[in-house]
Amino acid sequence: MTNLLQMAQKDLAFLVKLNQTPKSVEEREAVLADPGFGKFFTDHMVDICWSEHGGWHRPRVQPYGPIALDPAAAVLHYGQEIFEGLKAYRHHDGSVWTFRPEANAARMQRSARRLALPELPTDYFIDSIKQLVAVDSAWVPSAPETSLYLRPFMFAKEAFLGVRPAAKVNYYVIASPAGAYFTGGVSPVSIWLSTKYSRAGKGGTGAAKTGGNYAASLIAQAEAYENGCDQVLFLDSVEGKYIEELGGMNVVLVYKDGTLVTPESDSILEGITRDSILQLARDRGHVVEERKVTIDEWRDGVASGDIVEVFACGTAAVVTPIGLLKGDDFEVGSADAVAGELTMSLRQELTDIQYGRLPDRHGWLTKLSD
Ligand code: PLP
Ligand code: COI
Repeated sequence: MTNLLQMAQKDLAFLVKLNQTPKSVEEREAVLADPGFGKFFTDHMVDICWSEHGGWHRPRVQPYGPIALDPAAAVLHYGQEIFEGLKAYRHHDGSVWTFRPEANAARMQRSARRLALPELPTDYFIDSIKQLVAVDSAWVPSAPETSLYLRPFMFAKEAFLGVRPAAKVNYYVIASPAGAYFTGGVSPVSIWLSTKYSRAGKGGTGAAKTGGNYAASLIAQAEAYENGCDQVLFLDSVEGKYIEELGGMNVVLVYKDGTLVTPESDSILEGITRDSILQLARDRGHVVEERKVTIDEWRDGVASGDIVEVFACGTAAVVTPIGLLKGDDFEVGSADAVAGELTMSLRQELTDIQYGRLPDRHGWLTKLSD
């Protein structure tokens, strides 16, 4: 039996090399029964090459496995890397869909520009995901609120030690069955305010989805854990008083008059979940503001009762209520807080759309397989 099939594509002809030693059905079912987040990977991956002279070429789906890198590969020295995160959802009829992939493709193009990497065209991005899900569709779980997390990423593969944009880059997609990001499910999480560390600086890479931002957040995230908190909140690096975002999620505050406020800043990641949630809130008649928010506004607003709910949002976290905000010398809210009503109903509406339980009135879904 041949394991090489040529698959016709509109723009890119993917070579599909099937994994000859995939996980057994039993192994896969055991993973899907309790996937956690980011711990297990499917049988295949996408790999597309780019070179300065050849452009995007040699697209393939191949068995999941290690990537051979020259020790001088530029990414290992200068961190020229970007990534994305989106999910594939199984609907009741067994079909598999993804959510706003063109927005992830556009964000990856913006990240690429900032990191001096080549821009992957939107069609290629969406095709790459379709190709992977076509061979690994059995890995899309069907239990409530589970999904297949898709992780496209791109990095500088050229071997050289000079500091300049690499002339050889590879783009990959891997996939990982996913349950809840936080071990406590959707119960309220606690947030540690980092005043010692910044995630991003003025003119830096904060708005790009690049590994360096996450590397810079790890020590602050460790401080959050040491202080008994689930996630870290960063402030702006210039004045140190405006809230930006969490290590891996955006933040939204809900006021008692129903207004939703989210920080405006050019150094935070423009979340697709945040954008979608704010659209759903607008559709319901809520006022939505994207503006600068000081940490005092959050602290005082929760204490006075002006702010009635706060939540985190992102692809991995979906919408997660925030119960407690804690800093060096203060605490507001409570770790045992009850999840906010609006938070939970927006979460429900978003997931109902993603899982096909409500009509897709904004045209956010793309079918990946039948
Ligand atoms: N902010 C950061 C730092 C993130 O890592 C993420 C997750 O991707 C988000 C915000 C939310 O973005 P999205 O909703 O597009 O997943
Ligand atoms: C995502 O939500 O896609 C992210 O990249 C965030 C990370 C915490 C997993």
